[in-house]
Amino acid sequence: STTIRIASIPGDGIGKDVMVEGIRVLDAAATKFGFRMDWKHFDWSCEYYARHGAMMPADGIDQLRDFDSVYLGAVGFPGVPDHISLWGLLIPIRREFDQYANIRPVYLMPGVKSPLAGREPGSINMMIVRENTEGEYGTQGRFENRGTEDERVIGEATFTRKGVDRILRYAFEQAMTRGRHVTSATKSNGLAITMPYWDERFALMARNYPEVRTDQFHIDILTAQFVRNPDWFDVVVGSNLFGDILSDLAPACAGTIAIAPSANLNPERIHPSMFEPVHGSAPDIAGKGIANPVGQIWAGSMMLDHLGQPEAAAAIMRAIETVLAEGPRTPDVGGKATTVEMGKAIASAL
Ligand code: NAD
Ligand code: IPM
Ligand code: MN
Repeated sequence: STTIRIASIPGDGIGKDVMVEGIRVLDAAATKFGFRMDWKHFDWSCEYYARHGAMMPADGIDQLRDFDSVYLGAVGFPGVPDHISLWGLLIPIRREFDQYANIRPVYLMPGVKSPLAGREPGSINMMIVRENTEGEYGTQGRFENRGTEDERVIGEATFTRKGVDRILRYAFEQAMTRGRHVTSATKSNGLAITMPYWDERFALMARNYPEVRTDQFHIDILTAQFVRNPDWFDVVVGSNLFGDILSDLAPACAGTIAIAPSANLNPERIHPSMFEPVHGSAPDIAGKGIANPVGQIWAGSMMLDHLGQPEAAAAIMRAIETVLAEGPRTPDVGGKATTVEMGKAIASAL
C-alpha cells in the first residue's frame, strides 16, 4: 500500500500539543483508508536554538527535501526574538522550497459562533491566496547614520513579474473551481510604486479568465468589508503582508483563528509543500493543554488531499465538523475539553 513520508516539526508552544493531535487523526485516517503514514520528527524550535545557536542545522533544508511534505506546528517563543526564530526556520522553508502559494481557506463551521451578528454556517466561505515568497517580506535593507539623530532604516519590498503573475494565476485557477470571483487586495493609493504594478498585473491576468468576476479594494476598506460583508468574497488574493493580515481577520470573522489551516504550496511539485495552522505558538496558553487542535488537523486534511488521498481528507473534514458542532470542544470554542480530548474525538469520529 502507499506510504506517505512526512517530516513533522512541532516547533514551539502549543505547536507541540496540536501536532500530537494532527498525527493522531492522520494515523487514524491512514488505517481507515488503507495507506501508511511514515513520520520523522524534527525538534527544531526555540529550545533547539538555546542549545545550538540556530533554529535548525545548517543542512536542515536538505534534510527535508526528500519528504512528501512538511507538517509544521508553530514557530516562535519569548526568549528568542521573533525575527530570528521565524527567519531561521519557517520562512527559509517557504522560500527554499519555493512554496509561493499560501492557501488559507475560511469557512464558518456549524457549531462555531461568528462574532458578527446573523451569520449562518457556510455564509462565510472564502479562500485567501497569499503570495508567500517576496513582497513586503524583504531581505534587502540597511541602516544609515546608526546611533545619530539622522538615523534611517530602509527596507525594500520586491515584487517581481514572475512572482506576482504566478500568485495571481493561482488565484484565478482556484476561482475557476469555486465561485468564479477574485478580489484583489491593493493599496495603490498609498504605496505608489509597488501596488499600481500589482494592479496592472491583476488587470492583465484577469483578461485570461473572462468567466471570472473581479474586483479590487484598498486593504483598509477591505478589512472593513470583511467585517461588514464577509459573504461578498470568494477568492481573495493578496501580497505577502496583506494576505497575512487578511488570513487572521477572515477566520476571526468566522469564529476563531484557532481552526484556520494554511497550505504553503509549491504547485509545480518540484519541492515538498508545507502544511501548518494559521495560528502561532500561543505562549499565553502554552503548556495548559487547552489549545484547539482543529487548525493543525484541518491542515493535515489539506496535506492528505495534496498527496492524493482526497477521500481521507474529506472524511477528516466531516469529523472536524461533527466534533465542532457536538463537542467535546476546547474552551476557545465554548467547551471544557482538553486538546487531547478534542483530538481523540475527531479521530474516533472518523
Ligand atoms: P498566536 O496565533 O500564537 O496567538 C494569538 C491568540 O490566539 C492568543 O491569545 C492565543 O492563545 C490564541 N490562539 C492561537 N491559537 C490557538 C489555538 N489553537 N487554540 C486556542 N487559542 C489559540 O499569535 P501571536 O501571539 O501573535 O504569536 C505568538 C508567537 O507565534 C510569536 O512568536 C509569533 O511570531 C509566532 N507565530 C508563528 C506562526 C507560525 O509558526 N506559522 C504564526 C503566527 C505567529
Ligand atoms: C503566518 C505567520 C508568519 C507570517 C510569521 C510568524 C512570520 O504570521 O504564517 O501567518 O507572517 O508569515
Ligand atoms: Mn500570520
